[in-house]
Amino acid sequence: MFDTFLNGEFYRSAEAAVSVDDRGFLFGDGVYEVIRFYNGSFFELEPHLSRLARSAQKISLLLPYSLQKIEKVCYELLGKSKIKNGKLYMQITRGAAPRTHQFPVQAEPTIMMKVSAVNEDELKEKQKGATAITLPDDRWNHCDIKSINLLPNILAKQTARSQGYHEAIFVHSEKITEGASSNVFAVLHGKLVTAPASNRILAGITRSVVIELARAAGIEVEERFLAKDELYQASELFITSTIDEIIPILSIDENPLNGATVGRITGNLQELFQKKLSTLNKYS
Ligand code: PDD
Repeated sequence: MFDTFLNGEFYRSAEAAVSVDDRGFLFGDGVYEVIRFYNGSFFELEPHLSRLARSAQKISLLLPYSLQKIEKVCYELLGKSKIKNGKLYMQITRGAAPRTHQFPVQAEPTIMMKVSAVNEDELKEKQKGATAITLPDDRWNHCDIKSINLLPNILAKQTARSQGYHEAIFVHSEKITEGASSNVFAVLHGKLVTAPASNRILAGITRSVVIELARAAGIEVEERFLAKDELYQASELFITSTIDEIIPILSIDENPLNGATVGRITGNLQELFQKKLSTLNKYS
């Protein structure tokens, strides 16, 4: 079973190899996407590919293929893998070249995709609610780029997990930006509030879907930075990501929210999200 695509060929992942001179390995010089597929259909493939193109353009990385070709390869890989429900990880780096900080004069970008199954039971368990802590957002000023440089994110996530929390929520100048690998939403006075798309957050694809679902359901959405204090006053809190979909946050920094139960608006949005997923058709 082939689960990996690398520079034009399909592989079993253990047999795919990248050069030790690859700038992704040496410098983290690359961009990535994570895309879910359900019942053999990708979810929001087009917005993911558009964001990939924007990330690549922002680091002056020329994509090795057109987006149409990348889309075709995504489906080919899905077909070869025989996995029906899972995630596709895609990474494009500036390629292999002698190590210099400045861009190499000549290098072919490396394009890699790997599909893997998702454990739906584990996901459903997480979606009953999780906990989070706040941590300083010590990332750079281009968080809108989906860069493979994730050290601050992984260190924050590790701090959270090692203390028994699911997610780390970043605070920058007393404002909530996003999670280590998610976007953050709060319900305040009946309104849904989330950080605006800017250089301080990755504008999540799940975030956009949730905003759209909320507005269509008559829930008012405000895109503004929440003050850290407002987090504790929120009646509901949840995080969104491609991998986790919508996860209710039942306590933040050990402060329970909504009596540590899933709030009405969060539950409603989870249902609407599942409803949207159930309309996905094979190869739609
Ligand atoms: N991360 N913000 C950050 C920093 C993220 O890493 C992610 C997702 C999101 C949510 O974006 P989306 O809804 O498009 O997945 C927000 C992916 C899943 C990851 O790194 O695995």
